[in-house]
Amino acid sequence: MRTQVAIIGAGPAGLLLGQLLHKNGIDNVILERQTADYVLSRIRAGVIEQVTMDLLDQAGVGARMHADGLVHDGVQICVDGIRHRLSFKELTGKTVMVYGQTEITKDLMDGRAAVGAPTVYSAHDVSLHDIFSDKPRVTYRSEGEPRELVCDFIAGCDGFHGVSRPSVPAGAITAYERVYPLGWLGILSDTPPVSEELIYVRHPRGFALCSMRTPTRSRYYIQCSVAEDIEAWPDQRFWDELKPRLDDEARGHLVTGASIEKSIAPLRSFVAAPMRFGRLFLAGDAAHIVPPTGAKGLNLAASDVQYLSRALVEHYADKSNAGLDHYSERALKRVWKAERFSWWMTMTLHRISDNPFDHQLQLAELDYLFRSKAAATAFAENYVGLPY
Ligand code: FAD
Ligand code: PHB
Repeated sequence: MRTQVAIIGAGPAGLLLGQLLHKNGIDNVILERQTADYVLSRIRAGVIEQVTMDLLDQAGVGARMHADGLVHDGVQICVDGIRHRLSFKELTGKTVMVYGQTEITKDLMDGRAAVGAPTVYSAHDVSLHDIFSDKPRVTYRSEGEPRELVCDFIAGCDGFHGVSRPSVPAGAITAYERVYPLGWLGILSDTPPVSEELIYVRHPRGFALCSMRTPTRSRYYIQCSVAEDIEAWPDQRFWDELKPRLDDEARGHLVTGASIEKSIAPLRSFVAAPMRFGRLFLAGDAAHIVPPTGAKGLNLAASDVQYLSRALVEHYADKSNAGLDHYSERALKRVWKAERFSWWMTMTLHRISDNPFDHQLQLAELDYLFRSKAAATAFAENYVGLPY
């Protein structure tokens, strides 16, 4: 098989890239290790930036998001039982959208099926070859048969544990990493959210987050140890640990119920640089990870894809390689700002150390955030998403 761009991974990065390239007449094939149902079963991101919404519109898959997504003008931060509100709308004139990654993925899969662009699910043993030549190749196994895809470019959109980044020769890549000694235990339940807006909670027992998917479906997270065993967390134990972290009003409004999904996510900051190696381009979690506290992971995957799709369109339409040559530098500039913001939110809201000095610094950071319009504006600008 031959295509112009071989895309590894059918997560948000791969699917969005495929859709934007298709819109511009560039052939692409997606190779995904899992089944479509498995990809759709992963409950992850919930908050999307205005620029990500714009990109989904550009890809022609924004209709359901506008109909069903929840526009949020602000966010709430609860510090030791007292809630504060920060209005994005007043501070920046912008808003964010609460619309689940599962729904975005489904919209992108449906959009891809509608235009008949090829995706190979359950593609095994994907392997990248000749990335520094003019004719890179990807080999894989599908339905037990060995296959080969010859292409002009490879887009490595296969997440943190994918095959693309490890295919790069050691020494060509620098990894910057910080691992936090904690995780998020999350549950999804068909219960109404405690509040119309997200509540990020800083509490001596540990961080918590009250989020949602729809007016009848809630998503809650609590900080837990990274070594936590999910089997040790029946639903009741989760609710019993969430409640004391909330303020009185939120506790009063909390409706508990059976979980429909429960998982633990480790917290990590990671950046691989550069993001281009010959004809291989990394995008999304394949190149970088942020802890989820800033709600930036999916949004960064989208911004990488914006830079990469434009660069590829420029290559084919204008015979210019300028965008491809600048891809890594441009993408990394935005990545590092989101890394900084996600790290800051993580360090400010979690119980990370037992040193009372660190606790007092967190309280000072937050007090400054609530009292200074400049600090609140900086926070809001980052949360709603920096411009491309
Ligand atoms: P992925 O979604 O990981 O997709 C990669 C795909 O590649 C997968 O389908 C995988 O099966 C496939 N693949 C892997 N290896 C291979 C292989 N060898 N061959 C073929 N295919 C392969 N982000 C936000 O912006 N806002 C949020 O609110 C937010 N909340 C989050 C909450 C949690 C609990 C978690 C865990 C994450 C959250 N994120 C959030 C982050 C967001 O989910 C990720 O950043 C996003 O999924 C990245 O998309 P991606 O397409 O780059 O990678
Ligand atoms: C979510 O709803 O899953 C969510 C929201 C905000 C975050 C992280 C996750 O910062």
